[in-house]
Formats: sequence, structure tokens, C-alpha cells
Amino acid sequence: MPDHISSVRLGTSGLRVSEICLGTMTFAREADHETSFAIMDSYREMGGFFLDTADVYTEGASEETVGAWIKERGVRDEVVLATKVYGHVGPHENDGGLSRIHIIREVEKSLNRLLTDVIDLYQIHRWHTGSPPEETARALDDLIRAGKVRYIGASNLRAYQLLSYLTYMDTALLSRFASIQPPYNAINRAQEVEVFPLVGREGIGVIPYNPLAGGMLTGKYKRGEPLPVGARLEANDYYNKRYYSDQALDITERFVEYAESIGLTPAQLAIAWVRADSRITAPIVGARTPAQLEDTLGALDRRLTPAEREAVPAVLPGRWVGNDPVYDSTPYK
Ligand SMILES: NC(=O)c1ccc[n+]([C@@H]2O[C@H](COP(=O)([O-])OP(=O)(O)OC[C@H]3O[C@@H](n4cnc5c(N)ncnc54)[C@H](OP(=O)(O)O)[C@@H]3O)[C@@H](O)[C@H]2O)c1
Repeated sequence: MPDHISSVRLGTSGLRVSEICLGTMTFAREADHETSFAIMDSYREMGGFFLDTADVYTEGASEETVGAWIKERGVRDEVVLATKVYGHVGPHENDGGLSRIHIIREVEKSLNRLLTDVIDLYQIHRWHTGSPPEETARALDDLIRAGKVRYIGASNLRAYQLLSYLTYMDTALLSRFASIQPPYNAINRAQEVEVFPLVGREGIGVIPYNPLAGGMLTGKYKRGEPLPVGARLEANDYYNKRYYSDQALDITERFVEYAESIGLTPAQLAIAWVRADSRITAPIVGARTPAQLEDTLGALDRRLTPAEREAVPAVLPGRWVGNDPVYDSTPYK
């Protein structure tokens, strides 16, 4: 049985969250309604109460599934509910991005799908070239003042982008981001160069996604063998480009052997490796079944010492292998 999930402070904010966040990107996609409910039940039984979704996950159906579960279990005041805004959700030019018009409209749609009147952590999903940070920061602050949102966060920002928001928020005395949500795992350490030093200084919580590199680090993808049908890197081209490469396979083969040598499953080592960086608040864990979740969270008490972490096969500090399309594209001008 997996270890109990404890709680931790989100950066220097007053909000306490679970030390493991449950991601819901698989809901209403790889995981049907019943399986998604079973994953959330299992996470809750382990003591977890921090759920991450987004308006764009399965075109809103992930938010609907999370909202239905919260309502059916009667746990609205027990969970910290996080969602995101930015992606295009309709045909009109203003149906995406981080303009005031889109944010103000989209939060209402998320609230309706989540069957609640307030979102605990509202995150901007990416940088938007077409919206000034000042406009976005003011719109987010207005949502807090209107009681629609309690805390705000960001995802996928480069350090200079994050700093441009924070500088304006501080100057204009607006609500500040409590957290950043970047990709981070043993084959993608890009965040260590600029973002991690900044968030350490600024007191921003770090809730990284892709801790298993989309499943790559579990060792399920073997060199010279066909990719398992339906698994993330087979079914999703975007993820294949991001994490499937010869270099990633090299590291993963050694990573899996190392995990076995210390009595952890590869998924457990992947989580322990992410958490061993002192700047990490709570990795966001994703699963398509309760069994995957129970494997991944099966050794939360096993902390790696700095020397042990150093010994784990991984890319060099600050480096990554494969593409990182989130950071290499700016789809909305
Ligand atoms: N802000 C952003 O841009 C962003 C982007 C991505 C994700 N997220 C958030 O972060 C959460 C987690 O991200 P992620 O799902 O990409 O994380 P991940 O941990 O890198 O990958 C999870 C995937 O790995 C496979 N897996 C999980 N546990 C496994 C196990 N024990 N054994 C074998 N395979 C296993 C499953 O895929 P298969 O079974 O299909 O192989 C699962 O869907 C998401 O749900 C979402 O909330 C945010």
C-alpha cells in the first residue's frame, strides 16, 4: 500500500497543498469516467487533496469529471482545485490567449464545468505573445477580488517572462503568482538554469509536470522494439517528439537498472529524483489507472540523499534531451 501523502506550503503563500498533486490530463481520454473516479478515490485514500486540471484537457471533459467527482463525494472544502487558462477553446480570435476578454469569459466556463463557484489556484498555461503581462495580471487580480479565484499561478514560463509578471504585480500591488508549473524530470532539467534560481529567490512554489517524462522513465519503451500500442509515446506524436530519442533511451536503460539496484520501481525512482531537489514543492503525477498511481506513489517515504541523487543516471544539470515544444513555439501571436 502506498505511503501517506503529507501536506506542504505552496511557496511563501498561506496555501497548504499535498506534497503530491494529482494530474487529471488522462481523464475522459485514456481513463474513462469510472476509472477517473477510481484514480481520484485512490489518491484521496492516500491522503492527497491537490487536483490539477485545465480548460483544454479533453475539451473541458477533464474539468467536468473532476467537478462531478468533487460533487458526488461532497469534498469541495477538502480539496485544493487548480485549473488553467490560455489554450484555444473556440473558433473566434478571442477564444484563447491571456487577454482580459478571454480570461474573464473562460473562468466562468471552467467554474460551470467544475460545478463550483470558486477556483483555488488559477494558472496561466503558457506565455502569450499577444497579451501584455500588465493586462493579464490585472484581469487575474480582478478575479481574486471578485471571489472567483483564490490564488493564481503560472505554467511554462521562461524566467524573464515570469519576472516580467512579478515585477508588474509588485509595482502595481496586485496579487502575485503563488506557483509555477514547469516540466521537470531526469531527462529534462532545463528549468535548473534560469527558472529554479528565480523561484527560490521569489518564494514561488514549484509543481512540476511530466515527472515520469510522459512514461519514458518507467522503462516501458525498449530499444529496437515496437512502442506499446496506446501508451503515451506511441499514441501521442507531440509526446513522442518530446521524450523518445536514442539519448533518452540510453539514460532510461541505466535509470531502470539503477532503480532495481536500490529496490524501487522506475516510476518510484522518477518521483524520488524530482522531489530530491529542494526547490520542488509537489510533483504532479498522472496515471491512466489506479494501479499505475499506486506503483508511482508506492515509496514516498524513500527520500534520496544528495549523494544518492547524484548517482542516479540523468542528463547533466540544466540540460535536456529531445524537443521541448512548449518552449519552442508561440502559437498565438
Ligand atoms: N502545464 C502543462 O503544460 C502540463 C503539461 C502536461 C501535464 N500537465 C499536468 O501534469 C500532470 C502529469 O503529467 P503527465 O501525465 O505528463 O506525467 P508523467 O508522469 O510524465 O506521465 C504520466 C503517464 O505515464 C504513464 N504512467 C504513469 N504511471 C505509470 C506507471 N507506474 N507505470 C507505467 N506507466 C505509467 C501513463 O501513460 P501511458 O499509460 O499512456 O503510457 C501516464 O499517463 C497532468 O495530468 C497535468 O495535470 C501539465
